[in-house]
Amino acid sequence: MNEYENKVILITGAGSGIGRATALLFAHHRSQVIVSDRDEVSGFETVNKIKEMGGKASFFKCDISNEKEVQELITKTIKDFDQLDYAFNNAGIEGTPAPTNECTSENWNKTISVNLTGLWLCMKYELQEMLKYKRGNIVNCSSIAGLVGFENIPAYVASKHGIIGLTKTAAIENAKNGIRINAICPGTIQTPMLSRFTKGDEQSMAKDVPMGRIGKPEEIAEAVLWLCSDKSSYMTGQAMAVDGGWTCH
Ligand SMILES: NC(=O)c1ccc[n+]([C@@H]2O[C@H](COP(=O)([O-])OP(=O)(O)OC[C@H]3O[C@@H](n4cnc5c(N)ncnc54)[C@H](O)[C@@H]3O)[C@@H](O)[C@H]2O)c1
Repeated sequence: MNEYENKVILITGAGSGIGRATALLFAHHRSQVIVSDRDEVSGFETVNKIKEMGGKASFFKCDISNEKEVQELITKTIKDFDQLDYAFNNAGIEGTPAPTNECTSENWNKTISVNLTGLWLCMKYELQEMLKYKRGNIVNCSSIAGLVGFENIPAYVASKHGIIGLTKTAAIENAKNGIRINAICPGTIQTPMLSRFTKGDEQSMAKDVPMGRIGKPEEIAEAVLWLCSDKSSYMTGQAMAVDGGWTCH
């Protein structure tokens, strides 16, 4: 029996990209996976992929920017599974690219409400459950855009920096409660988000990466798996870049 077996992990944005790859990896390690997404079709696709490989998964629809839906997601998780061991707060949007002086209030509010407020809502209700048993492990999805600035995506950059501050704060608050909370900062990763952002020219990003290539969602999933494991037992409140060396520049 491995340490992930029969553990329950909740993954938001698990219908696509990094979230889906992480869902498949935890299922491979025999965790029970709650695949959550605002998009039902892609969410069920992830569940079906897990079931095809003999794993256990359920789909719970949730728009993380809606507090009532987040609260219901956690309530349903506990009702159906009795426990919540790990959470990967991964769902996010890139927003509409425009420089700071042209960013609309609509784009700003939408991006912050999903990426930052939505992630905080997830943590709020996950922590309320984890605190009952004084154990748990949370990984928040930030970005290299949470560590440095990027032109033309001010709301995205602000939201991803905010996630790191929120992660550090919740980590300190819960360091003596048996709950570890870390952030992961992916570099440029081959997902539908990156395809949209580069208008289908993802490989154009490779030249800026010291390793000379963009990353695979599975490489982020492996880092999330490690952060949830006891192998990272003395680590909390950190923002870990997995970026092919991008932030070493
Ligand atoms: N791909 C990259 O290069 C990259 C780099 C750094 C960070 N990230 C971060 O990784 C995370 C996953 O991104 P991805 O590249 O896999 O993107 P993706 O667009 O492929 O997947 C994102 C998923 O989140 C879901 N989602 C969006 N808004 C939601 C909401 N309000 N409620 C619930 N679900 C919602 C989408 O339906 C989708 O399934 C995001 O937080 C993103 O910012 C991605």
